[in-house]
Amino acid sequence: MNDKELVAKHAAKQVMDGMLVGLGTGSTANCFIEELAHRSREQGLKVTTVASSSVSLNKAKQLGLEVLDFEQVSHLDFYVDGADEVSPELTLLKGQGVDLVREKLLATASEQFLVLVESCKLVERIGQNFAIPIEVMPFAWQLVKKQLEANGGHGELRKNANKTGFAVSSYGCLIADMSFNKHIDAEMLNDTLNSIPGIVEHGVFYRLATTVLVVINGHVQERKAGNFR
Ligand code: A5P
Repeated sequence: MNDKELVAKHAAKQVMDGMLVGLGTGSTANCFIEELAHRSREQGLKVTTVASSSVSLNKAKQLGLEVLDFEQVSHLDFYVDGADEVSPELTLLKGQGVDLVREKLLATASEQFLVLVESCKLVERIGQNFAIPIEVMPFAWQLVKKQLEANGGHGELRKNANKTGFAVSSYGCLIADMSFNKHIDAEMLNDTLNSIPGIVEHGVFYRLATTVLVVINGHVQERKAGNFR
């Protein structure tokens, strides 16, 4: 069993009968979806789910999980997803997979947000290894860029997979990958990005994770956030 499967199994054990569970997106979230489907099939676990992307939705349905439409959901018990970076105070960087909006909606609406990572995702500060993904209204890009630069950011629009044009989110938005001065802390960065008109969503998940499960040397460690909800 690899680290992603190990941490996914650990997380799936925490799901109880009757829960509404949010399904994240990415390779770690995929392992969790498989474990959840396994428990539901083999142990009769009764759960309903809602997915953060069409990829996760299709996977969950194929594995026999009941998936609600996004529009039907106003509150979740559990949201389980991976992350690209996790800081010591459990701020996350997410969004390498483009669609940030659904991920942040589910993270915010959930009683518990469980984040599953391998130790290589632990960083000293958000933005250490990756640029910050920022989803932007296409017509607003030049204005948003100016504001971001005025706040110490630099970067460009993400290219699509074939490099023939720009990456476009499910909602027709563009993604800017921006780097910032390392002295901007996560709270300040989050506040700044939240305050710029034309930004639809961004990859800084500040004070949203309730628990991070991290695999270190083959063992799952649980890190709990302070009480901020
Ligand atoms: C999806 O948009 C991202 O936020 C993922 O959660 C993140 O990139 C982690 O993906 P992996 O589990 O594949 O590393």
